[in-house]
Amino acid sequence: MADTETQRHKKLYIETVGCQMNVLDSELVVGKLRGEGYELTDDIRQADTILYNTCSVRQHAEDKIYSALGRIRRLKERRPELSIGVLGCMAQKDQDLILKRAPFVDVIVGPGQLGRVTELLDKAKAEQKPQMAVSLERTAGSRDHVTASFAEYDPLREPAMRPNAFQAFVRIMMGCDKFCTYCVVPSVRGPEQSRPAEVIVAEARQLADQGVKEITLLGQTVNSYKFQETDGRVTRLSDLLLRLHDIDGIARIKFITNFPNDMTDDLLQAVRDLPKVSRYLHVPAQSGCDEILKRMKRMYTAALYDDMLARIHATIPDASVSSDFIVGFCGETEESFEKSVRLVERARFKNSFIFKYSPRQGTKADLLFNDDVPEEVKKRRNNDLLALQSTISREDNRRLLGKTFEVLVEGPSKSAGSVEGQDGRGLGQLAGRTWCDRIVVFDGHERLIGRFVPVTIEDASSVTLFGRVLTTETISPGA
Ligand code: 5AD
Ligand code: SF4
Repeated sequence: MADTETQRHKKLYIETVGCQMNVLDSELVVGKLRGEGYELTDDIRQADTILYNTCSVRQHAEDKIYSALGRIRRLKERRPELSIGVLGCMAQKDQDLILKRAPFVDVIVGPGQLGRVTELLDKAKAEQKPQMAVSLERTAGSRDHVTASFAEYDPLREPAMRPNAFQAFVRIMMGCDKFCTYCVVPSVRGPEQSRPAEVIVAEARQLADQGVKEITLLGQTVNSYKFQETDGRVTRLSDLLLRLHDIDGIARIKFITNFPNDMTDDLLQAVRDLPKVSRYLHVPAQSGCDEILKRMKRMYTAALYDDMLARIHATIPDASVSSDFIVGFCGETEESFEKSVRLVERARFKNSFIFKYSPRQGTKADLLFNDDVPEEVKKRRNNDLLALQSTISREDNRRLLGKTFEVLVEGPSKSAGSVEGQDGRGLGQLAGRTWCDRIVVFDGHERLIGRFVPVTIEDASSVTLFGRVLTTETISPGA
């Protein structure tokens, strides 16, 4: 019986919360586990191994995981052979607390140790006790060692884990050195480190060979990317974009998320001059009030952020810019909040992600300041800023009516469900994105998925453009 048990494929269920970095981490973990004979299931009841890849950026993300763990407690009681793992940022931040609240968890693995998940699962089973790996140690003196540690961190890519065959994330850096006072990321993801350019280019080539057309470069502050080559030359993000641009098959390149102070002219010029690079920049402002920005330790003022926006628009006239804001940060008065409102009005972002401040244990803000804005006030400011942003987005989207954009078709529109639509011949609503990252929904045949098509915009809401495909011909990438 033991033989059939070990020979049978182990079934893995994985749930991911948080940012794109986590989505990529999950892809890599699944890739590794598949190599060890696991297969994926999306039915948690069928699984032998259940993994949660977690986020710590706000309390809400953590609460979600604790409730999920609460729900599977009974499953584990009924099937003690079930392996359960908590991975990622929460594992890093709250290792002991997780074991206390969910003692049935088998492995707790931080973001720097994800390559060891299989080994730890096996060890937990063999020793019948929970295993923890939370070291963020990855640097070493020699360049080869650095390359090797990155290779271990970003192992072979797993096409089956991606939402589709033609889009992929590529990590170009890890960690963060900015230490914004509210943010837990530097302590859970460790110091900023850029991957060697040659390793990134090799990975992008491999992805292109697998049929990937669009890559999104990932970093907490992706535009701070800097890698010093052995001859002393420094590769900046603009240089890296140029090298990636040369790869046949890669038709579109995006990069997220940017830090305002590192939005250099060479980068803006690269975005302007390289036709494969999306003219979309996500550059979180966080607040429009200088006192709050200072307390957040963002290292710029609202005026400097304005200057940066002006440089973006002067260099790349059709660029779209999006932002993040935190409302209700410690000490935020109505007057300071109004300054964020003014910034949103001035900047006319494509969209903004707006968050209520959530105190994170161990951060400077949590230690030094009072979380003194009441929850109802945070909620109201969140709603007000969101409403303003929606009005602006809708107005700007409606200015695009009648225009035609090249869209990379990503798949069936989420609202439409299956593309196996009305007539059962693969016709239905599709969704894709323009070169400025605007979402476009239109009727079309499923064979358009993964292709670039021209779409004329006929209607628009604050988040979506609705259009009609001009022709079903594929236009050449980058046109
Ligand atoms: N509370 C609320 N929002 C936060 N963010 C980061 N830390 C916090 C926090 N403690 C937001 C920032 C960041 C985005 C990823 O999450 O806006 O840009
Ligand atoms: Fe957090 Fe600031 Fe680093 Fe972004 S730049 S990950 S907000 S510390």
